Amino acid sequence: MKVLGLEGTAHTISAGIVDDNRIISNFSSTYIPKNGGIHPREAAIHHADNILPVMKKAFEESGLSPGQINLVAFSMGPGLGPCLRVVATAARAFSIKYGIPLIGVNHPLGHVEIGRKLSGAKDPIMLYISGGNTQIIAHEENSYKVLGETMDIGLGNLLDKLARDVGIPFPGGPKIEEFALKGDKLLDLPYSVKGMDTSFSGIYTAARNYIGRESIENICYSVQETTFSMLVEVLERALYYTDKREILLAGGVARNDRLRSMVSHMAKSSGYVAYLTDKKYCMDNGAMIAQAGMLMYLSGQRQHIMDTKVNQSFRIDEVKVPWINSKKP
Ligand code: ATP
Ligand code: FE2
Repeated sequence: MKVLGLEGTAHTISAGIVDDNRIISNFSSTYIPKNGGIHPREAAIHHADNILPVMKKAFEESGLSPGQINLVAFSMGPGLGPCLRVVATAARAFSIKYGIPLIGVNHPLGHVEIGRKLSGAKDPIMLYISGGNTQIIAHEENSYKVLGETMDIGLGNLLDKLARDVGIPFPGGPKIEEFALKGDKLLDLPYSVKGMDTSFSGIYTAARNYIGRESIENICYSVQETTFSMLVEVLERALYYTDKREILLAGGVARNDRLRSMVSHMAKSSGYVAYLTDKKYCMDNGAMIAQAGMLMYLSGQRQHIMDTKVNQSFRIDEVKVPWINSKKP
């Protein structure tokens, strides 16, 4: 089955094509604001201008023609309303023109399913850490349950805001990672874990207050060490609570090597297996939407075009996930 996936919930517009067990192409274009954070209308204009070139590149790379696609999947939410509507409109048009079914996909589901596919994890505890989200997710019965999450901003958002404060454009995470490698002094920052929930806005404020008083290298180092330790703690708690044995890291922040090594180290010392999503597919991409859409379709889920209204606050726990056979906690 050949599936076209279209993603465009926030900064990136992307088209990917998946053929049964293989990602055959993926192409993206990212909107970088001139100053400040993402402006939803500007991002939507970027997506509208770039969706056709991105789809064209994905088709060229795949060697397929649009008429050979069997299903079109698109990210239905959560995300920025104007951006979501651009992608939904393109997906509906493609579905009508080629007479093929259409399926709206939950964006976090895309992140975790591409991670499971590429890594081979079967029934993991998932740490999904991105710009807007920080969630601990586990499959139970017929859906993914959110066991814990950020009570305010996503960790990626903290990194992007801090980077912006020192003049680094989006995405800030990779540059913060580079600076952190040169830091060695652990600054005092709030450590905010409540059960399996986390909080990052107080850490952002405290880190911002160090700007100009401590080196940027030490600030980045301290932010990474503090927030990643929090994530390892909640991950361990979730593993203990559910009795699962596998860990999967997904989402843009999962590209970070320090986080990858801290999680791998914890897994090794406690007898768990850590699966790390291929860095290329951690950030938003169309292939992840194609993959999740294919699983939904193969499990019998169908949507009429009238059911494909975008949903800015769509949560992963609202989706039926019958394709995993999970162990009951
Ligand atoms: P969401 O999935 O919550 O809707 P998003 O789609 O904006 O958020 P992704 O594309 O999954 O997010 O991830 C983007 C985030 O990943 C940005 O905040 C970016 O700074 C962060 N990121 C990318 N590379 C790294 C890295 N090496 N270290 C830390 N963070 C990183
Ligand atoms: Fe994302």
